[in-house]
Amino acid sequence: MRVITKSKRRAEFGDFQTPVGLAEAVCRLLLASGVNPASIVEPTCGIGNFLLASVKAFPRSAHLVGVDINPQHIATANSKLEEFPHRQTVDLHCGDFFTSRWDRLVGLPEPILVVGNPPWVTNAQLGSLGSENLPAKSNFQNHAGFDAITGKSNFDISEWMLIHLLEQLEGKQATLAMLCKTAVARKTLSYAWKNEIGLQRSSVYRIDAAEQFGVAVDACLLVCEMGRQASHDCRLFASLTSKRPTHVFGYRDKQLVAEVGAYDAWKHLQGVERYRWRSGIKHDCSAVMELRRLGEVYTNGLGERVAIEPTFLYPMLKSSDVATGQTATTERRMLVPQATIAEDTRQIEAKAPMTWAYLQKHGRLLDRRGSSIYKKRPRFSVFGVGPYSFAPWKVAISGFYKSLNFRVVGPIDGKPTVFDDTCNFISCQSRDEAEFLVSLLDSPQATDLLKAFVFWDAKRPITVDVLRRIDLLKVAEALGVRPRAEEFIGESIAKTDALFTVGA
Ligand SMILES: C[S@@+](CC[C@H](N)C(=O)[O-])C[C@H]1O[C@@H](n2cnc3c(N)ncnc32)[C@H](O)[C@@H]1O
Repeated sequence: MRVITKSKRRAEFGDFQTPVGLAEAVCRLLLASGVNPASIVEPTCGIGNFLLASVKAFPRSAHLVGVDINPQHIATANSKLEEFPHRQTVDLHCGDFFTSRWDRLVGLPEPILVVGNPPWVTNAQLGSLGSENLPAKSNFQNHAGFDAITGKSNFDISEWMLIHLLEQLEGKQATLAMLCKTAVARKTLSYAWKNEIGLQRSSVYRIDAAEQFGVAVDACLLVCEMGRQASHDCRLFASLTSKRPTHVFGYRDKQLVAEVGAYDAWKHLQGVERYRWRSGIKHDCSAVMELRRLGEVYTNGLGERVAIEPTFLYPMLKSSDVATGQTATTERRMLVPQATIAEDTRQIEAKAPMTWAYLQKHGRLLDRRGSSIYKKRPRFSVFGVGPYSFAPWKVAISGFYKSLNFRVVGPIDGKPTVFDDTCNFISCQSRDEAEFLVSLLDSPQATDLLKAFVFWDAKRPITVDVLRRIDLLKVAEALGVRPRAEEFIGESIAKTDALFTVGA
């Protein structure tokens, strides 16, 4: 057993014990929804708050199993249970989730309830702590083991745990009820649906993680009832005490859908991405690349006055500008050193010597950018830049804000407006075209289809992936304006074909 220092333990082992009141509320909810287990399993039981709450809520259960990696927690859980009269046979032991034989541990009399709160920690956090609290087969450096399961390289270890438990419970009369991040619940369900793990009924109940655990994370109770009559729906409840779901998300046509009702009604409006949706320009160095114009001078994020030519400067809008509709003027400027991601930046020296000197002066900051997208590219490179960045008109939407506000954005001070990488946009040739596209995107049909895909609690709810599902020609057809759309789209395709072959 490794020696675990106290300070590291909380972070490394996601050691946030569930408050007694919350554990009891979860068990009350399970009891009210008809859960009546013969066996109860708490896979990372900590000091035993869920064990005790479930012994109280389900006095007629016969078996109780608890496992935790921390021996002191197991000792505390043991003494708590000893103080409370109960009839269950109890198996509490110290063990590592990742090496435990869960096939045996869930080989108990059914119905089985697996309940608890697995550690909330990501592989990135574990990496920075130098921790190995990971599944044995998961090669942490390249995530081979986990990739094999989820196809993703960035993960919460609780996601791995939940998926593993669901796989062990498949075909049994069992319920899994676990507190976790809402994003983890969604990914776990998505995996189960995709891989046809038989879930008969799934529900997600939001909890207030700030109040319960003092952390600003979207969190929930995920409840999965195993069963042969598989359903690809999950009811979402606003709280543990809500009687009705706010909506139902699920899995349709091999994709995760945020509102199955909206999806079923409007899925026929999906199709071809008639205009290419893009994110704004990524540079990862706002202190140097983003300036503010104050009269005739510029200042940068380092507080310096900057004297450079306007040649490579473009008016820039951020998510907040786009979300609030402040899109007609701006004093923000972005230094865009390339017209395409491959363009050699040395040409700046001849065209704009002061800009070149400015970039050289701050070269160390720019060279330090960690992202691999800048490797093997010209010095001072940016990403997400191409002829589309310089189109005169655009339709833009903030990726971060929790609203569907599409904006027409035109040139500012005679130059095309660019966006930072928190915005999404399509490029157009005229104001007419941009206004027409916004009228399509603002229609109830398009809005409803988008709502079918937007998970509002995600860090970046509105992504290019979501936007590209809408077929604007089909929306135009539904609105009776297809001929007008064809005019624009025909023209745009002719132009954008030429555009996209350059730097896309
Ligand atoms: C979020 S706490 C929750 C504890 C308990 N389930 C509760 O709800 O109060 C996570 C627990 O997971 C335990 N843990 C972390 N990594 C583990 C592992 N690899 N195997 C078993 N337990 C682990 C920690 O010691 C901690 O008690």
